[in-house]
Amino acid sequence: MGGTSLTIGKGVGMLINSENHALPDGQDVPPKFTNWPAVGDRQQRCQIERDHVSAVLTIKPRGLSYLTTMKGTDAEMAQPIDILVQAVSLAKVYNGKTPVTALCDVSFTLHRGELAALLGKSGSGKSTLLNLLAGLDQPSSGSLMVGGQPLHSWNSGQMAAYRSNVVGVVFQSYNLIMQRTALQNVELPLVFAGCAPGVRQQRALAALDAVGLSPRAHHRPTELSGGEQQRVAIARALINQPQLLLADEPTGNLDSVTADEIMALLKNYCREQQTSALIVTHDEELARRFATRILRMHDGHLLEDAA
Ligand SMILES: Nc1ncnc2c1ncn2[C@@H]1O[C@H](COP(=O)(O)OP(=O)(O)OP(=O)(O)O)[C@@H](O)[C@H]1O
Ligand SMILES: [Mg+2]
Repeated sequence: MGGTSLTIGKGVGMLINSENHALPDGQDVPPKFTNWPAVGDRQQRCQIERDHVSAVLTIKPRGLSYLTTMKGTDAEMAQPIDILVQAVSLAKVYNGKTPVTALCDVSFTLHRGELAALLGKSGSGKSTLLNLLAGLDQPSSGSLMVGGQPLHSWNSGQMAAYRSNVVGVVFQSYNLIMQRTALQNVELPLVFAGCAPGVRQQRALAALDAVGLSPRAHHRPTELSGGEQQRVAIARALINQPQLLLADEPTGNLDSVTADEIMALLKNYCREQQTSALIVTHDEELARRFATRILRMHDGHLLEDAA
């Protein structure tokens, strides 16, 4: 079976051996599957399948085989279709003169369509976590699956494709190109994606319009306020219709009315497009009003508020 890299949480897979087959000599159930519920009969199996089972490991006369409830049968893809991100025991140590442990044993999942707020003190590891999810850095250890794909073991080419096709990022410092207009900045991901000029301009204008900035489309970042630049960065992050939106304090420079509008826009966007978002904010109240979940970083550890 070509799927030893399958990583799936306890209880969301099941082991089937309805006919009590013995495994062929030399084969054993890999340790990572031994926690899965073993299911004997069909009725029990159907019940469990309804309860979000995503992958099934079946013992057959000739050995083990996978069946997943996801489209496609690649074992790498065997995670629930509604889960986009699955992080298990992520750690990040920056190895400078004095090593800094920025993330420690971070595990969480993000469902599609979910907008999670990430809170935490300065230096607690929020941007570090976003960088790993954005494919800009690699974890020191642990596994990070996005859409069933193992980001933690990708090469730089795969990472580049991921950044261009799957993820949209609003950086803490915006990272706009100062020599280009707002429109050209927003268009940029579509240029990399090989989109025709007419189409990309139309889409970029619509994205700027959505953040209330179409009248300033032809202005350069230096001619825009901090909050306006922030909104350009948001439009740029959404232009490629990312499956995963990562935003580092996207409302940090906005007044409270505009911050509310932007958060409402992002929330609607996530719901309609089934995009998952992880949004760093220091605004606890804003997080409570707009996020579907609240995650907190504390000294490199991730905790979740009770639902
Ligand atoms: N490149 C680096 N080299 C060494 N240490 C780093 C590096 N980047 C971040 N750190 C350290 O890792 C820790 C987490 O940093 P990170 O930027 O993730 O914090 P943060 O929660 O985003 O903080 P803030 O709210 O101030 O943006 C901090 O102690 C920081 O000093
Ligand atoms: Mg930060």
